[in-house]
Amino acid sequence: MGNVIFNGISFKPFIPAEAIGTRISQIAAAISEDYEGKCPLLVCVLNGAFAFASEVFMNLSIDAEITFVRLKSYSGTESSGDVKELLGIEEDIRGRDIIIMEDVIDTGRTIKELLDNLKLRQPTSIRTAALLYKPDVCSHQVTPDYIGFTIPPKFIIGYGLDIDGLGRNLRDIYVAEEDN
Ligand code: IMP
Ligand code: MG
Repeated sequence: MGNVIFNGISFKPFIPAEAIGTRISQIAAAISEDYEGKCPLLVCVLNGAFAFASEVFMNLSIDAEITFVRLKSYSGTESSGDVKELLGIEEDIRGRDIIIMEDVIDTGRTIKELLDNLKLRQPTSIRTAALLYKPDVCSHQVTPDYIGFTIPPKFIIGYGLDIDGLGRNLRDIYVAEEDN
């Protein structure tokens, strides 16, 4: 496994595909046990979480559903990216057991907004699962219920995560070398 280069930035191998697969199997087993007899609705946050959410979902041994949402930043105000609109959730989530599937929790802002939005729709329960968690950056005090890997505050690509749209199809996870 060598380095890869996107936008002039060199990324070095960080988490191999085998380790990701093993961890995802463990998360799927934990969810299957925790939600035995229930039918949770996984809410995949697009784009980055598609690979993680799909792999966890396919490994569940219980009945479950999956849906996909996107958070669209409003533009036109001074800081676009601060206020986001939730697109894509048509299901009635009232009375459902929800598991939000995120690729990475960095500042925690995205997951916090989603949690606040979904809680208004009166689900029975909401938990969060994140493939990657950067606790050193997370200022919004959101600790995911299911964590793939706790990582330092560095820029990551692969397994769904991108740099300007690229790198999502790498099976392994890579870290930006300039950060080291
Ligand atoms: P947060 O709102 O700051 O927690 O950021 C979460 C979102 O930022 C993720 O869903 C990603 O789309 C993006 N992001 C955060 N860290 C990284 C990274 O290291 N690589 C790629 N995308 C990232
Ligand atoms: Mg994302």
